[in-house]
Amino acid sequence: MSVIEGQTWSAHSYEENARFVSDLGTGVFEWLDPQPGERILDLGCGDGALTERLVAAGAVVVGVDGSPDFVDAAKARGIDARLGDGHELAFESEFDAVFSNAALHWMTRPAEVAAGVRRALKAGGRFVGEFGGHTNVAAIVTALHAIGAKHGIDPALASPWYFPTPDAYAELLSANGFSVERIALIPRPTPLPTGLKGWVRTFRQPFFDGAGDNAPIVLNEIEELLSHTLRDEAGRWTADYVRLRFIAKAV
Ligand code: BEZ
Repeated sequence: MSVIEGQTWSAHSYEENARFVSDLGTGVFEWLDPQPGERILDLGCGDGALTERLVAAGAVVVGVDGSPDFVDAAKARGIDARLGDGHELAFESEFDAVFSNAALHWMTRPAEVAAGVRRALKAGGRFVGEFGGHTNVAAIVTALHAIGAKHGIDPALASPWYFPTPDAYAELLSANGFSVERIALIPRPTPLPTGLKGWVRTFRQPFFDGAGDNAPIVLNEIEELLSHTLRDEAGRWTADYVRLRFIAKAV
């Protein structure tokens, strides 16, 4: 779910460059442990690949995403997907659980998100999620800042994401009506099937819009800089992902 200005999504480009995002969602799915008949909200459902697994587990699922292209793709899978902003959830005590994979780092006003999730849950309901935590994609962010500064690109375009520490996120959840049961940072080096260029083009499109005609040069320089750390001897790229995974109960 993107609510960051300038970032748009194409379900086709996502399929090509980022299918691993839902494929790697198994760990958080197990923490959720969806039960037949439960009503579950999938916040930032994307193209619905992981949402489908909630439905297959017997849950009654509503997906919400900020991208019209993703909502259409999720609907095509038969999912009850709705266009919406995660900062402005309008559900009231409707869900047994709210689930979110790889979406919360795009929502940069997290207190508003947590308050909306709390309102959406029944008393005792659970909020189970995974997203980028502190130091997530640190090498990539550093390279975007360094090369961006050289070319006069607005530094705000380099790293718009919310990557909190477990302490900071636990505090935010507690302040918004949750009791945190489990929370952990999980380093997860992630192979990039279409290389670094595929990743940054998919996820940091506004940065390259900011580079104008220099975009191809900027892209080559970022790739060269990161080749020293993120590319192996066989030419394969791995991103330095760090997940923040949690279970919190509505109190
Ligand atoms: C992530 O899943 O950690 C992520 C994806 C795209 C941009 C930033 C972070």
